[in-house]
Amino acid sequence: MSIAIDLVSLSKHYGAVRALDDVTLQVREGEFFGLLGPNGAGKTTLISIVAGLARATSGQARVMGFDVVRDYRQARRALGVVPQELVFDPFFTVRETLRLTSGYYGIARNDAWIDEILTNLDLSSKADANMRSLSGGMKRRVLVAQALVHRPPVIVLDEPTAGVDVELRQALWRFVRRLNREGHTIVLTTHYLEEAQELCERVAMLQNGAMVALEPTADLIRRFAGGMLVLRLGGAPLPPRLAALRVEYPLPDRVALPLARYEELEPTLAELRQAGCLIEELEVLHTDLEDVFVRIMRGER
Ligand SMILES: Nc1ncnc2c1ncn2[C@@H]1O[C@H](COP(=O)(O)OP(=O)(O)OP(=O)(O)O)[C@@H](O)[C@H]1O
Ligand SMILES: [Mg+2]
Repeated sequence: MSIAIDLVSLSKHYGAVRALDDVTLQVREGEFFGLLGPNGAGKTTLISIVAGLARATSGQARVMGFDVVRDYRQARRALGVVPQELVFDPFFTVRETLRLTSGYYGIARNDAWIDEILTNLDLSSKADANMRSLSGGMKRRVLVAQALVHRPPVIVLDEPTAGVDVELRQALWRFVRRLNREGHTIVLTTHYLEEAQELCERVAMLQNGAMVALEPTADLIRRFAGGMLVLRLGGAPLPPRLAALRVEYPLPDRVALPLARYEELEPTLAELRQAGCLIEELEVLHTDLEDVFVRIMRGER
């Protein structure tokens, strides 16, 4: 299987700050990959190196086999990046902006594809509007469009849904999923872990520049699996055996008990009944990517 993005021992230091610390990672062609981590973890730094916008302190990065330094032009051509920061020229219209970007990649007549992108991002009505007249969310849509004008095989989206409304988010994911089905490799960074869980087949987690997890999303969740039984009780106090199992929960009037398997549910309820506890409310919570993320950031592996 071919490798879309190949990073070998990649490090980037800013003075004493290790923005990236010895990251080795391969994103396979056709993958929908998530790059996760808290603020300052190094996600944008990694993307900037891959896009040739920043130089690694050490290590190598390749896009579709092209070294981002030695074969800069080919590597850049193979990549479409939706940057985290809004940057644009206020004097051009949306269409002019997209034509200019096409020109930058040496594509002369690109209007058919530009129109398709505009339609999919619900931007057609803004095609002739000046960039400076657009709202923040609209500008972000243009950034997404700009990343796609040269039909790059690898698409990297750095928090594309920050500050965009529900409708665009859904439209954007439909479009990106379609591009992925058509063979494009997708790398996504987001702080919305629900989105990552739903979209990404595999995720990497960065913390202080180092990679602390790299696994198929489903495996990661399964490995940390375990639910929680959350109860509001009346009647008699919690029996001592269950009181000893009790885990912390944000609402003080709730009793939270770990629940590794559903088979534990019935005996637990029977034990409560026998002790004379009355169940006033009951909820079973499942582990999701957000729980896993929090636990990994706390140092669990
Ligand atoms: N040009 C720079 N000069 C100095 N330090 C930098 C520079 N760019 C990034 N850093 C530092 O590198 C670290 C990683 O930053 P980076 O922007 O890659 O994080 P991030 O994971 O993208 O965070 P966020 O989720 O907030 O976007 C941070 O400590 C940041 O302050
Ligand atoms: Mg960032």
